[in-house]
Amino acid sequence: MQRIFSGIQPSGIPTLGNYLGAIRNWVALQADHDCIWCVVDLHAITVWQDPESLRRATREMTAVLLACGIDPEAHIVFPQSAVRAHAQLAWIFNCIARLGWLTRMTQFKDKAGKDRENASAGLYVYPNLMAADIHAYHATRVPVGDDQRQHLELANDIAQKFNHDYGVDFFPAIEPLILGPAARVMSLRDGTRKMSKSDPSDQSRINLNDDPDTIALKIRRAKTDPEPLPADAAGLEGRPEARNLLGIYAALAGTDHAGVLRDFAGGGFGRFKEALAALLIEKLSPISAETRRWLDDEAAIDAVLRDGAARAATIADPIVREAERLVGFLRL
Ligand code: AMP
Ligand code: TRP
Repeated sequence: MQRIFSGIQPSGIPTLGNYLGAIRNWVALQADHDCIWCVVDLHAITVWQDPESLRRATREMTAVLLACGIDPEAHIVFPQSAVRAHAQLAWIFNCIARLGWLTRMTQFKDKAGKDRENASAGLYVYPNLMAADIHAYHATRVPVGDDQRQHLELANDIAQKFNHDYGVDFFPAIEPLILGPAARVMSLRDGTRKMSKSDPSDQSRINLNDDPDTIALKIRRAKTDPEPLPADAAGLEGRPEARNLLGIYAALAGTDHAGVLRDFAGGGFGRFKEALAALLIEKLSPISAETRRWLDDEAAIDAVLRDGAARAATIADPIVREAERLVGFLRL
């Protein structure tokens, strides 16, 4: 069976983008893979995190994963900082990756913004740590949203250069799994920007713990254009907001853009938005209820994470130890 690895940052309440672009696909993949799901707190601190908030967000993200159907017994759920192998292999990869490769990463440019001199060094080498996350387990399939495609290409470049430099065939190639009509959910305020938990405007996103009234209001206020919904998917060209809302509906209803348009073509956004809000509330309410149930029992969450970390380390430690031997470190 192929091993799957994926990670998600504990940097706030997960959004509908995280759910449709990542978590929901993870749950489905559990049926026929060995899966390792990592709450990536080491990645989170590449930008400032208040310590107490980081602890809370790590538990919250874990609670959401469990509420969505991630199975911590058949698979592994753990916080990245609890398995030392990630940081150890990341250092080796810092010495494999070239500055030129990192400079091309669009996420760094987005996150560092205008004041690049003031970004943390960690933010710059973020993709090397992400490569280490995956390669420490010899994972070969990595489900992510479309925004992470470039990082996975870099992870493959790192593996190839390591194998080439040390004359080995040690790190396998990884295959990105970018799934579904909502692989990139966009902001509700601007259809050209991705929906993000770090967007300053809460109106730009649906949080997985939003209550039904909030969801309905955010959808009603979501930006659209004045045209009615088009007859077919080709008519979504140049209409990013319409495409995004239809994509969200399609993903939740298990269809595609064309499937949604069969019911809504030619209509105005009013009726469509009402149906979309109802569908969102139907799908998200059970998740937020189950999340709250987990969060009432922090000890249970911590027990899941502790057990996951111990099992993750038994896989990653020998692989990273072998990488260290290949590099030429003494094995004392
Ligand atoms: P992050 O929140 O950046 O840690 O992302 C965790 C996972 O959610 C990754 O697989 C991302 O690709 C995915 N993701 C984040 N935002 C979106 C979005 N707006 N649309 C689709 N997938 C997303
Ligand atoms: N960088 C990813 C994101 O922001 C999260 C992540 C960290 C990840 N390590 C990973 C995803 C390893 C897949 C595999 O979405």
